[in-house]
Amino acid sequence: MAEKEEKSEEKKIEAFRSPRGVHDILPMDHEYHTFIKKVIRHRARQAGFRRISTPIFEATDVFKRSIGDTSDIVSKEMYTFEDRKGRSLTLKPEGTAGVVRAFIQHGMQELPQPVLLYYIEPHFRYDRPQKGRYRQFWQFGFEVIGESDPALDAQIIQLASKINEDLGISGILSLQLNTIGTPEARKEYMGILQDYYAGKERSLCDSCKVRLDKNPLRLLDCKEEDCVILAQLAPVMRDYLDKESVEYHEELVGYLDEIGIEYTENPKLIRGLDYYTKTVFEFWDKDNGSQNAIGGGGRYDGLLELMGGQPTPAVGYAAGIERIIANMKRERIRVPSKDTLHVFVAQLGNEAKKKCLGLIDRLRDSGLKTMGALGKGSINVQLRLADKFKVPYTVLIGITEVREGTAIIRDMEIGIQETLDMEDVPERLVELIGEENLDKYSPGELLYS
Ligand code: HAM
Repeated sequence: MAEKEEKSEEKKIEAFRSPRGVHDILPMDHEYHTFIKKVIRHRARQAGFRRISTPIFEATDVFKRSIGDTSDIVSKEMYTFEDRKGRSLTLKPEGTAGVVRAFIQHGMQELPQPVLLYYIEPHFRYDRPQKGRYRQFWQFGFEVIGESDPALDAQIIQLASKINEDLGISGILSLQLNTIGTPEARKEYMGILQDYYAGKERSLCDSCKVRLDKNPLRLLDCKEEDCVILAQLAPVMRDYLDKESVEYHEELVGYLDEIGIEYTENPKLIRGLDYYTKTVFEFWDKDNGSQNAIGGGGRYDGLLELMGGQPTPAVGYAAGIERIIANMKRERIRVPSKDTLHVFVAQLGNEAKKKCLGLIDRLRDSGLKTMGALGKGSINVQLRLADKFKVPYTVLIGITEVREGTAIIRDMEIGIQETLDMEDVPERLVELIGEENLDKYSPGELLYS
């Protein structure tokens, strides 16, 4: 008995699960990903952006220097490791730093300015896993590098709004807008903030106690309850900003009014990354506020120089695809599914199976999404399978059909069958499915040399 128990114990191997905070993108969710990527690529191309992919990991300093030591991302959310030669590397927690590194490394300042780049990539943050917060998540982003003008900031916001509209979620989002001025103006304000917090340190969370010294601006962005209350009563940055930044902001707001984009002026919005200057903005879920912003961005005029490049102004935006999908689902927004099959091919016998392989290939080349049951089940088992796949038509080839060079097409909804020459099957099915519903694919015709 004991031996038996031991044996069954031996057999029980625990199945693996994905690491905490990361998730599989299953086929149902890929339909959303595919649709969203299509929208992004379309809108990006229309506006002259070109796609860039930077490596999944970079030298750790790329992020430390750009995002800032006191930010949550750098201080507690990076996946940092040493390679075999002891070099410190980090999985990218965001896209801007890598794009700027690439811009400088590849001499893109020689290109006509501004350079318009976009990306759709996975990113990694050791965030506390919860709804809308993952440790691997997909972000798409746009960067406009090489020019400073409020009209460019307006255009980036317009592009982001357009994408939200295309995805059917613009109605549930509010655009939060602020300017955080130049670094010099901010310095003065930071001193004022430090004075305000003096004597209140005991009410701050541990992170904020540390940040108060190094970068008191971060305290305005903290999500801990007591810190939020203190931040609400803090002096407002706008009152200490330089004239140029204020005028820049007024001009931007004028453009947004002109193109009919609604916004909420939010003087407390500072964003969680250190590289911003002047314009900052976020799209908030109207119900959940800042907790789960679907996207955010702003101007970063000092970053290129900070990263070793020539002084070059820039502005950009990035959004989280998982959060967008969650909002689309909440709003019951469906996306077109291109995965539905047109035809199922069932067969009986070895000879029929051989014929099927060629037929399936021809059906697919005709633009018909076709699946073949090439296993060993009976015709009835195969038909039940066809039902489960919800195909409108099944092609049946048995011993008689092989001998006579024919095939049967069965309409799965009404159960009517017709027999025809095997050669004529693709054409007949194209007619039944309709040219407009085909999945035509002929990459060979697109290639040129
Ligand atoms: P960010 O606000 O840190 O900005 O991230 C942009 C978006 O990425 C967020 O609004 C959110 O939708 C998504 N996101 C961030 N962390 C997570 C997470 N743990 N799980 C799921 N989604 C997440 C940036 O990254 C800047 N690089 C944006 C930018 C581009 N600024 C200028 N250019």
